[in-house]
Amino acid sequence: MGSLDDYWPEPVVCVQSLSDSGNLSIPDRYIKPQPERPSLSVNDMNIPVIDFNGLVTSPEATMKQISKACREWGFFQLVNHGVRTDLVDGVRETWREFFHEPMEVKQKYANSPKTYEGFGSRLGTEKGAILDWNDYYYLHYRPPCNTKWPDQPPSLREVMEEYTSEILRLGAALLKVFAVNLGLKEDSFQSAFGGNDFGACLRANFYPKCPQPDLTLGLSSHSDPGGMAILLPDEQVCGLQVRKDDQWVTIKPEPHAIIVNIGDQIQVLSNAIYKSVEHRVVVNPNKERVSLAYFYNPKSDMLIQPISELVTSNKPALYLPMTFEEYRGFIRTKGPQDVKRYKHQITFERPSDKNTLKIPSETLEPNDVKWNPIHNLIKRLREDIANVMTI
Ligand code: OGA
Ligand code: NI
Repeated sequence: MGSLDDYWPEPVVCVQSLSDSGNLSIPDRYIKPQPERPSLSVNDMNIPVIDFNGLVTSPEATMKQISKACREWGFFQLVNHGVRTDLVDGVRETWREFFHEPMEVKQKYANSPKTYEGFGSRLGTEKGAILDWNDYYYLHYRPPCNTKWPDQPPSLREVMEEYTSEILRLGAALLKVFAVNLGLKEDSFQSAFGGNDFGACLRANFYPKCPQPDLTLGLSSHSDPGGMAILLPDEQVCGLQVRKDDQWVTIKPEPHAIIVNIGDQIQVLSNAIYKSVEHRVVVNPNKERVSLAYFYNPKSDMLIQPISELVTSNKPALYLPMTFEEYRGFIRTKGPQDVKRYKHQITFERPSDKNTLKIPSETLEPNDVKWNPIHNLIKRLREDIANVMTI
């Protein structure tokens, strides 16, 4: 006998089949309540764009840009990140092919809410919940496991393995930069993630064309529960929006850029100096959209709490310890909307601080940061980066 979370509470409908049906109105299940519906107007704000090669050519300025982006936006785009352009284009197109495989092929990989691994079309297990307009494939990659690889298209596994090793290398470098920018030892985040046993999983997102994009969302507003997300957007089709104060900012991806965002676990570890910011995806009437979100996570049983150096009498710990597993368990049963509602409880903000989570406004400025470690780090990163630069 399986347990409850071996099954979805009701039959799962593949969103692409709804899109392919040619119906001009979407089913009620996808219609969001008025306040959650997207505004499709575009303003000209954008998230910070950071030239990663700047860590070699102008390290201090680049470190500062990254620091500011982590504090003020929780999001940035990286260009010149060293991941080959043919590889980023290739891996995105390979996943697009997968989503265009016949239903019988995709159904072989149908997922359950227990681990979410495989092909799916809903997040959260609440019966009757309003759903998002997307299909996805979750691939668990680390810690080493029996990864559920699709066998179509045949090149998928090979191209993904290569892409993954590049992304994980980039992720490890970013964690060092984040730590040093906070005046911490460069391996602080990686150790808090469980060292070599850190976790990594991919969510390949497919947002089919939608006849009524003003009524629904491709992905409801959420913050990412893990450590950090490294996202390959669809260059041809905008859709990802980030909350900045009380506005939604549509990300305009630079060619071949990779988008990085802080997840909840880094917000906790940094004692809220770095922000895990809400984001959502809007859909498009004429174009499908494919994006690949790689999540760089703590090992499941790591107890996550603010790093001791970042806790002072002026800035007490804003969170109580919780393992990543416990946290994720909660997220897996609630859909993105409910998580938002319960977030105060699940991030364990101290009762006295409830509803008053403050993002500390004073920031560690260069004077506070020991700049020497940065130079040491740069020396080594410079070699790493030089190795992967192809341009
Ligand atoms: C996610 C996510 C954004 C996108 O998968 O968590 O935020 O652009 N994706 O698909
Ligand atoms: Ni996300």
